[in-house]
Amino acid sequence: MPANIVVGTQWGDEGKGKIIDIISSRADVVVRSQGGNNAGHTVVNNGEVYKLHLIPSGILYKDTLCLIGAGVVLDPKDFIGELDNLESRGISTKNLKIDPRAHVVMPWHITLDGLSEAFRGGKDIGTTKRGIGPTYMDKYERCGIRVYDLVHPDVLAEKIQTTGKLKNKIITEVYGGDAFDLDAVTAEYTEYGKRLASYVDDVSVLTFEAEKAGKTIMFEGAQATLLDIDFGTYPYVTSSHPLSAGVCIGSGVGPKMITNIIGVAKAYTTRVGKGPFPTELDDETGDKIRNVGGEFGTTTGRPRRTGWFDAVIVRHSVRVNGLDSLAINKLDTLANIDTLKICVAYKKPDGSVTEHFPAVLEELDGCEPVYEDFEGFTEDISQCRSFDELPENCRKYIARLEELVGCKVSMIGVGPDRSQIIER
Ligand code: GDP
Ligand code: IMO
Ligand code: MG
Repeated sequence: MPANIVVGTQWGDEGKGKIIDIISSRADVVVRSQGGNNAGHTVVNNGEVYKLHLIPSGILYKDTLCLIGAGVVLDPKDFIGELDNLESRGISTKNLKIDPRAHVVMPWHITLDGLSEAFRGGKDIGTTKRGIGPTYMDKYERCGIRVYDLVHPDVLAEKIQTTGKLKNKIITEVYGGDAFDLDAVTAEYTEYGKRLASYVDDVSVLTFEAEKAGKTIMFEGAQATLLDIDFGTYPYVTSSHPLSAGVCIGSGVGPKMITNIIGVAKAYTTRVGKGPFPTELDDETGDKIRNVGGEFGTTTGRPRRTGWFDAVIVRHSVRVNGLDSLAINKLDTLANIDTLKICVAYKKPDGSVTEHFPAVLEELDGCEPVYEDFEGFTEDISQCRSFDELPENCRKYIARLEELVGCKVSMIGVGPDRSQIIER
């Protein structure tokens, strides 16, 4: 049966939440496989706004099974806040399951995220300070605390003592920070464990069985391709694999299960946090896109950097994710800009031109975007529901974008609501 993956193709916040929500309406199971509460996914239904960080966007459909896979890092305190918030709005979380292998974000991870960012001085990454990097560091160091441990008080108490002692040493002796009271942490996290115990189940098994039973599955991406630890703009990236391939590892399924891979992009580009951004607009047009598009971080509230659509990065995403189609959101935001631009290639410092995103920042340095110009549009497109209803200049923009990135555009977002979508 169909198993769709939805991934971000730029630097995040492409409107994945909206596309996932729309596709979730046709799915029986929704699975999240990487990242943590650094993600912020917005779903708008009839004016009701939901901001989800860890819980899969499928939660808004009462019969959909929502799974959090082994590759996710889970902050139990924040997660419980999200559960309570949804329950208080009448959304049931009874169909939610978390893999026991998922790693737990502990308070020292959050502290260390802040301390190491401060230590980097002007060369900070601009992380969300949710402890994501330090939690993945412990996972790969093989000293992490997992969801299984969290819901087994004896195991938890022992692991907090062992790991906590080392973390306290690093915090106090390397960074000069304050040590954690490990007994207090044990008491607090034991309570979180009690609250989460009924949600724990093997996501790999549940997904496998769902597929065998002919269910429709959707794998929900968080973050995005250019934030991938290997194929993004390292070191200005997150610490997981937001690529389509990351889904298999992060949820424990084989690649043959996947039948369709959808990439999500905005009709322009945004980035929150530091790092290179070749098509960035540091001018009035950039401000206009930020204000009209409401480009402020869902998780941290930071203003997002804005710029023109970059076909070089989305072409890279089409390749590294093996995309079948693209969803282009926020075309409506580009109304009333006289001339729109798309970056089609990069001109290197030696004068040569490349259509491929450079592998390392040193090679990206000094690259200049090569632009094509497009006549803008002034019409309000928020009520358009078919491609033919769009103004001619919008259709030309999308058609050329498809050609440049080498992938068909199957969905076009014309507003934040789940109904404001053109499907082709
Ligand atoms: P995600 O992290 O990829 O899920 O994206 P975010 O939710 O962080 O940011 C996307 C923002 O754009 C949210 O505020 C959405 O409500 C909004 N949005 C999504 N699609 C559209 C669209 O087609 N038009 C407009 N105007 N807003 C959109
Ligand atoms: P969604 O799922 C946009 C960025 C941070 C920072 C870098 C590393 O909403 O698209 P981290 O806290 O992960 O160690 O920060 O990654 N970042 C995101 N930017 N959208 C996200 O998620 C992001 N998740 C992380 O801003 O630059
Ligand atoms: Mg977001």
